Amino acid sequence: MSRTFKLSVMAAAVMAFAPAAHAFEAGDFILRAGAVHVAPDDSSDAITVGGLPALGSDARVAVDSNTQLGIRATYMFTSNIGVGLLGATPFKHNISGAGDLEAAGKLAETKHLPPTLTLQYFPMHSSSALQPFVGVGVNYTTFFEEKTTGALSGLEIELDDSVGVAAEIGLDYMLSENFGLNAAVWWADIDTTAKVETLDEFDVEIDPMVYMVGFTYKF
Ligand code: NI
Repeated sequence: MSRTFKLSVMAAAVMAFAPAAHAFEAGDFILRAGAVHVAPDDSSDAITVGGLPALGSDARVAVDSNTQLGIRATYMFTSNIGVGLLGATPFKHNISGAGDLEAAGKLAETKHLPPTLTLQYFPMHSSSALQPFVGVGVNYTTFFEEKTTGALSGLEIELDDSVGVAAEIGLDYMLSENFGLNAAVWWADIDTTAKVETLDEFDVEIDPMVYMVGFTYKF
């Protein structure tokens, strides 16, 4: 056999025994884009004025849900451990009266960005096309463009930024070496203090479930 032919046979044999293309391995950068839905599990303190329940003993507010374009990335340190970052276009939420204030309807609105950094564990072998993961980390939520509406129109409002724990579970399914689909769910502890002119400061817990479905691209 010629030398070239022998080398070709050896190369073919090596390729035949090589493991399947690695799905996720150390050094990979995985980018995901899709729809992100924030569904608050909200509750608020009773709202008082000068320490008195001037608006009713059960005067509270509620926060509605919102969907935006989400981007999230993972950098793999090993084939099983990565660090993930969740970002999105700004979410916009309506803040409405609840309890004794329910009839007041929409009282304010705000935008927010909730970047979330997590340490992620991918239990499957790096050759698996299906890559479920769990993660835990920290959420930082910054509120901006807060404004009052309806019965509170004209009053200044400010919402404090929030830092809290976040947990996530999700999966990627790779359709080819570089392209796949993904879905993930987060829980984030997001609490803020609302400062509205003439009212006493009150705390609002948003603590949302966050859902995302989208496309995965691996570099
Ligand atoms: Ni909370």
